[in-house]
Amino acid sequence: QQLPPTYKEGLPLVGNLIAFAKGPLNVVQRGYQSCGDIFTFKVFHKHITFLVGPKAHEIFFQGTDDELDQNEVYAFSVPIFGKGVVYDAPLEKRLQQLRIMSAALRPARMYGYVDQMVLEAVQFFRKWGDQGQVDILESLSDLIILTASRCLMGREVREQLFEKVSKLYHDLDQGMQPISVFAPYLPISAHRKRDKAREEMVQLFRTVIQNRRRRNVKEDDMLQTFMDASYRDGSRPSEYEVAGLLIALLFAGQHTSSITGSWTGMLLLRNKDVFERVKKEQDTIIEEHGDELNYDVLSKMNLLHLCIKETLRMYPPLILLMRKVLKPKFYKEYVIPENDIVMVSPAASGRLENVFKNPNAWDPDRFGPNREEDKKAPFSFIGFGGGRHGCMGEQFAYLQIKTIWTVLVRSFDLEPIGDLSQPDYNAMVVGPRPPCLLKYRKKK
Ligand code: HEM
Repeated sequence: QQLPPTYKEGLPLVGNLIAFAKGPLNVVQRGYQSCGDIFTFKVFHKHITFLVGPKAHEIFFQGTDDELDQNEVYAFSVPIFGKGVVYDAPLEKRLQQLRIMSAALRPARMYGYVDQMVLEAVQFFRKWGDQGQVDILESLSDLIILTASRCLMGREVREQLFEKVSKLYHDLDQGMQPISVFAPYLPISAHRKRDKAREEMVQLFRTVIQNRRRRNVKEDDMLQTFMDASYRDGSRPSEYEVAGLLIALLFAGQHTSSITGSWTGMLLLRNKDVFERVKKEQDTIIEEHGDELNYDVLSKMNLLHLCIKETLRMYPPLILLMRKVLKPKFYKEYVIPENDIVMVSPAASGRLENVFKNPNAWDPDRFGPNREEDKKAPFSFIGFGGGRHGCMGEQFAYLQIKTIWTVLVRSFDLEPIGDLSQPDYNAMVVGPRPPCLLKYRKKK
């Protein structure tokens, strides 16, 4: 068996690095055109093998943890999540930590979270007043951190410590720069602030945890799930680990959800036909359930669900997913050797013409009952990843975005301002380039 074809760009030595830094998505798309669904792209000593399209994705998503490893490629998260937490933990412990996180996100827990989401959204949009103009990405970032602090970090944080936690989150977030991927410990000001914020965050959660234990109270939030969880040997996660798991979930859900929520609205407002149908869907649901908004009611919003999914096909916030090859993997006549980095791209694969008909058109019905374009082959739609490490917050994210647009559509007349933004591919989590403006007027 032979190595995958090599794809090159520009000048020898530096050409590939420049091309990758300028736009990794272009590299995937041009590499695919030139070499097909598997090719290797060398950046200095690193060999990155791209797998493009449903068939090739199988290699990536069906790989086991001892074949394809996440720790090294996601090592940049360690100064944020903490030593010994998720991508810094040995495999056995990491899998147990992921199991603890997934317990906090299992379907039965969603009922309670939705009630919190609705409460936050209603309060938040009430403050908009009768009419005005907003940047929807800024607004949704503010709202989603409020919801996250309530569902994830708990009542104490939401009611008494919110200002402090948002400031710490801001410093942690700013500590994740593109340079941090290559040099996570480089002594720059952003990294120093990040490290200080992490220490303070751990201290803050230590106090909340100890207070709950002292007063013997239990809350219905993810913090409580982590506090009560145990590893297989019966030991409990330390307070340091509990704080790390909370931060990890906060990071997994914050930008991804605010970005997807913003694109969904921006596309919806610019596609009048679909927008009218979404409003009709709301009317029908109101006729049946009145103003009540809960898990069961949200679950009936099929068209809104499809709009979010279609948005994620075209504008996934995580444009590249990666693993390090620990054991050689085989695909067609090729072998991907140990130490290669393998990557799949939700952004490139969402636009493949041989998978999605007319892929540059926003068309939520392509996922609807009669077409189901993503069902023709497994791993066609990978906006939430797939396989053993697929997103465990998928349902939470859909519910959150549906809640937001339900409250907005029911409360306001909405109009987009300007052209649709372009994606900002320089960001770590890719969202629309600002501004993302819309006009609103309260419904009578
Ligand atoms: C994993 C996307 C929201 C928690 C992933 C992965 C993707 C993804 C692509 C796979 C990463 C990989 O294979 O390397 C998204 C998008 C979201 C979203 C597009 C919003 C629209 C959330 C939320 C949470 C969450 C709200 C939690 C509250 C996680 C976790 C993992 C994950 C814990 C790791 C799973 C594992 O490794 O086993 N997400 N996510 N995500 N996501 Fe999400």
